[in-house]
Amino acid sequence: MRILSGIQPSGKLHIGNYFGMMRPALELAQTGEAFYFIADYHSLTSVSNPAELRQNVIDVALDFLACGLDPAKTVFYRQSDVPQVTELTWILANVTPLPMLENAHSYKDKTAQGLKPNAGLFTYPILMAADILIVQGERVPVGKDQKQHVEMTRDIAGTFNRQFGEVFVMPESVIRAEVATLPGTDGRKMSKSYGNTIEIFGDEKATKKKVMGIVTDSQPVEAPKVNLEQNIPLQFLKVVAPTRATEVEAKLVAGGYGYGEAKKELLAALLEHFTPYRQKRAELAKNLDYVNDVLRQGAARANAVADATMKQVREAVGLR
Ligand code: ADP
Ligand code: TRP
Repeated sequence: MRILSGIQPSGKLHIGNYFGMMRPALELAQTGEAFYFIADYHSLTSVSNPAELRQNVIDVALDFLACGLDPAKTVFYRQSDVPQVTELTWILANVTPLPMLENAHSYKDKTAQGLKPNAGLFTYPILMAADILIVQGERVPVGKDQKQHVEMTRDIAGTFNRQFGEVFVMPESVIRAEVATLPGTDGRKMSKSYGNTIEIFGDEKATKKKVMGIVTDSQPVEAPKVNLEQNIPLQFLKVVAPTRATEVEAKLVAGGYGYGEAKKELLAALLEHFTPYRQKRAELAKNLDYVNDVLRQGAARANAVADATMKQVREAVGLR
């Protein structure tokens, strides 16, 4: 089974990225041949500072390796090291109906937030389809916000196959219900673009400030708490430390136990969970030659697969 996913180097990765995509993707990688990449072409839609982009790429590489990506098993690469995806993007653009792009939630959300749309942002889903189809990815572990993009990829692949012959395998998104859309500190979806994130590798002080600042309802400390489905600290605790979550939930329901206590439990659980990764990250950061080597080797493996797909694609459409 071939598995593929990507993450944009458009800022510091957060625990929504980690629990929503990275951890499930790392687990799924145990079950097949995984290709995970750093989507730097995609990031050009939002990052315009070259030094920042380069630094973000290294940061994402460090984050992923520190959190357990095994480069001996998983093909880990930088998207721009596989420039064949841009050629495939152009070819796929010709089987992509304009209204499909106009209907993309992600595009609509971003423009609604005031982002000035350029053609890159508009055609973003075609580049994403090319990422997936060029390695013939069958399973795509992502958060719920990317579901529609994978559906578009299926539509694009289907149209291509009908028009030019069976070249592409149909991909399917893999989304875990309990972490499909994790909330940020303000209750909206946690996202780099909303400034409501808790960074995976933020320092302890910053993490504490973020966790203690999570919004909750205003039931008083003494009250036996009701409607806990919406409670963000508890929701995260269930994901980070399920046993601890059960205890905390019981105390909240009993009353005389406030949300501040629950947040402290969450903070402790987060620090505990990420401490070993933090240490590994610090070691890797001292050895960037190794990290760059991993990406180079990943690129070589991804290139071989991409070349094979492109040979079929070019033949199918009548190029060369
Ligand atoms: P952001 O919205 O912060 O820019 P990205 O678009 O880079 O995040 O997302 C990278 C991956 O992490 C995607 O698979 C996305 O679905 C997942 N993801 C992002 N935010 C969340 C969240 N709040 N809950 C669950 N998954 C998320
Ligand atoms: N669009 C994805 C995001 O913002 C990142 C991405 C780019 C991706 N190409 C992909 C995810 C291919 C899965 C498969 O999170």
